[in-house]
Amino acid sequence: MALEQTLSIIKPDAVGENHIGEIVAHFEQAGLSIVAMKMIRLSREQAEGFYAEHIGRPFFEGLMNFMTSGPVVVQVLSGENAIQRNRELMGATDPAKAEPGTLRARFGSIVSANAVHGSDSPVSAAREIAYFFDQDAVLLRN
Ligand code: TYD
Ligand code: MG
Repeated sequence: MALEQTLSIIKPDAVGENHIGEIVAHFEQAGLSIVAMKMIRLSREQAEGFYAEHIGRPFFEGLMNFMTSGPVVVQVLSGENAIQRNRELMGATDPAKAEPGTLRARFGSIVSANAVHGSDSPVSAAREIAYFFDQDAVLLRN
């Protein structure tokens, strides 16, 4: 097991429905520490750059509209095996297929409005953390 950092985003649906606190509590209770956090409204350019791997997919325009529809909370989570652990806490991309008790089952509604994002690999995590945070904004703890 490795000490890792991963990028989490609380998406506009969950922010708009006042679930920030419950989602942050879920991470902390699961043993992940928040080492950087900010609320921002993504521009179209920021959303495109973040999800560049999906440009051209049929859901891309909907994803851009959704991700720019309201504020998001962007966080760096730190802990043992944090990347995989966060993916497990989130559940499947489609909330209807997510395990009961996972964040997407609890707070997501449909695949295009699924409450949270989490990096899917160490390479993605490094890119996504650097996309939103300067190195000195990520607190060195854990
Ligand atoms: P993806 O990276 O496949 O999922 P995950 O967020 O679990 O890593 O897709 C990115 C986001 O794009 C996903 O969270 C929601 C949206 N999306 C759709 O709206 N429709 C789809 O069919 C897929 C695959 C994703
Ligand atoms: Mg993904």
